Amino acid sequence: MKLEKVVPWGRLASEYERMFSLTSEDRAKRIVDCGGGPSSFTAEMTAQGYSVLSCDPIYQFSQEAIRERIEETCTRMTAMNEETKAQFRWDHYGSPVQLSQIRMRAMRLFLEDYPVGRAQGRYIIGELPLLPFPSAHFDLALCSHFLFTYSEQFTMEFHLQSLREMARVAHEVRVFPILMAFSGEISPHLAPVVAQLQNDHYQVEVRKVDYEFQIGGNEMLVIRHKSV
Ligand SMILES: C[S@@+](CC[C@H](N)C(=O)[O-])C[C@H]1O[C@@H](n2cnc3c(N)ncnc32)[C@H](O)[C@@H]1O
Repeated sequence: MKLEKVVPWGRLASEYERMFSLTSEDRAKRIVDCGGGPSSFTAEMTAQGYSVLSCDPIYQFSQEAIRERIEETCTRMTAMNEETKAQFRWDHYGSPVQLSQIRMRAMRLFLEDYPVGRAQGRYIIGELPLLPFPSAHFDLALCSHFLFTYSEQFTMEFHLQSLREMARVAHEVRVFPILMAFSGEISPHLAPVVAQLQNDHYQVEVRKVDYEFQIGGNEMLVIRHKSV
């Protein structure tokens, strides 16, 4: 991974709670955030005493290098959100400038926690479709704005392998959103991946959530091991 190709854009724990319908019971689970990047979910949850860690290839880079990359790209992201404004609902965030302020708040929380979190083993270098964890190590594996979002760059096979891998390390997997980044359409990988996972005997469900920013993006994919 080359850092100059990464556009860091991290979300808050409060956004994760809505995107993944996290209940107080869910929050008490052992959670891994796959592709967590510069989100503050792990930092905020750890500060509240929960057991969360994050896995992302970006963690091979130093705090300073990630901070520089965030500063370089923030203005560009605000401009891009302005250009694509019509694809989003602004009732919660207000405007692209306000959204960038929220994203920067999340990324500052991440950056503050990153050196300590890395030393404590909460920011793990890892790249789907392989995860550096033993089987059944977590209760819940989350993935926000990586799988399905970049369906044009990653094949159906990559998605299937990644979801099977997340289901190997966790009892339950939740992925949000199921839409692609720019077209706003449901990922073409969703239907074949669901069919394959059902064939593998997982319980698979597309569930509505109380969060919608990308218009129509208010559903997550849930994959569970069938209880025997
Ligand atoms: C748009 S960001 C989302 C960050 C965070 N999940 C959030 O919602 O705030 C996408 C993340 O996916 C990570 N990523 C890229 N390739 C990956 C891979 N093969 N496996 C896991 N994460 C990857 C990037 O480094 C980046 O942090």
